[in-house]
Amino acid sequence: MITIPIVIPGRAYEVHVGRFAEPSAMADVLAKGLGDVTGVAVLVDETVGKRSPLVTPLVDALAARLPNVRRHDLPEGEACKNLREIERTTDWLAAQGFDRGVAVVGVGGGAAGDHAGFAAAIYLRGVRFALCPTTLLAMVDASVGGKTAVDLSAGKNLVGAFHQPRAVVADLGFLETLPVRERIAGLAEVVKAGLIADATLLAWLEEQADSLASGVVDPGLTECIAAAVRVKADVVAEDERESGRRAILNFGHTVGHALESASGYELLHGEAVALGMVAALNLGVSLGLTPPSLPKRAKNLLARLGLPIDVEHRLTNTVLLRMDVDKKRRSQAVRFVFVTEPGVTRLQDVPLAELRQRLSGT
Ligand SMILES: NC(=O)c1ccc[n+]([C@@H]2O[C@H](COP(=O)([O-])OP(=O)(O)OC[C@H]3O[C@@H](n4cnc5c(N)ncnc54)[C@H](O)[C@@H]3O)[C@@H](O)[C@H]2O)c1
Ligand SMILES: [Zn+2]
Repeated sequence: MITIPIVIPGRAYEVHVGRFAEPSAMADVLAKGLGDVTGVAVLVDETVGKRSPLVTPLVDALAARLPNVRRHDLPEGEACKNLREIERTTDWLAAQGFDRGVAVVGVGGGAAGDHAGFAAAIYLRGVRFALCPTTLLAMVDASVGGKTAVDLSAGKNLVGAFHQPRAVVADLGFLETLPVRERIAGLAEVVKAGLIADATLLAWLEEQADSLASGVVDPGLTECIAAAVRVKADVVAEDERESGRRAILNFGHTVGHALESASGYELLHGEAVALGMVAALNLGVSLGLTPPSLPKRAKNLLARLGLPIDVEHRLTNTVLLRMDVDKKRRSQAVRFVFVTEPGVTRLQDVPLAELRQRLSGT
């Protein structure tokens, strides 16, 4: 078990990563993190609830430790990330008679976690919450940093709030029921963490690529998740509200988001980020910011992990135009994250027209 402290002034908490011997151990950690509560609303991604044998024992174990524990299932994945479902959840919280002492516990991937965090941020103007991420992506990325949001028909994550959890418990046991494609997609964010801030993690991924791709969990996955969490934790501790340094977490995401939405979300987020990282590395080379050897090295690793790397033919006009609507765009320039050597980044504004021209030329 590895514990990573998240140091945000006034809102410090811990992320616990590992293979818990049994759900009661998870419940102990959650109960400690939540403190004195009058009730607990466990919001469960319904597919996780059906597939993972850990969910029911976890809810039972929470009920043995904390008062008034109730479970509410959410539509799976992105289907829960909208205001209708938030209304359904908050109506349910009110119907249970939960007061300001309630704690929300989200059990699921990044979608259920975002839903749970946002519901907790707005119910009675804010109640405490904790997360049990059940996808690799949620363990390494979505559960850390306190961003919560739901989608509008105009776009993803357009309504949300910053709200930090009291505890995050990532039990690798959940990964056993996770579809392979989802698990591999989560690895893209781990590669990102290595490229932007942790050269040792990158080298470790290269050593372990084959066993990671085949789904071997141990040894090492706990440390690997912890390393990625530390990268995000360090950045978030410096910049909770995304004014500066946090932008480096967007490495690969400008092109990635455009590809993801242009595919009608056929591409998983992590797959789109893998492609976006290849594009960002190529762009960095063409601007003289990224060493020419790095795109090849990264592509090799991503491909061995089972992630797509064939970005060139996907950069159609539609995709390039979509970067226009990226909310990180600053007037006519895009703030782009470049990797100048493994583990080191540089932010630079690139004029939109130049960006399109260079990307389509690569
Ligand atoms: N808040 C943040 O900082 C942040 C960061 C990154 C991503 N996100 C959000 O996270 C979401 C993506 O998260 P995700 O990739 O975890 O996907 P997800 O939550 O949509 O889950 C993917 C699929 O896997 C299923 N699933 C989850 N865990 C499972 C398990 N253990 N066993 C079997 N099936 C399981 C879900 O039911 C779903 O169908 C997006 O909405 C994204 O916007 C948020
Ligand atoms: Zn991402």
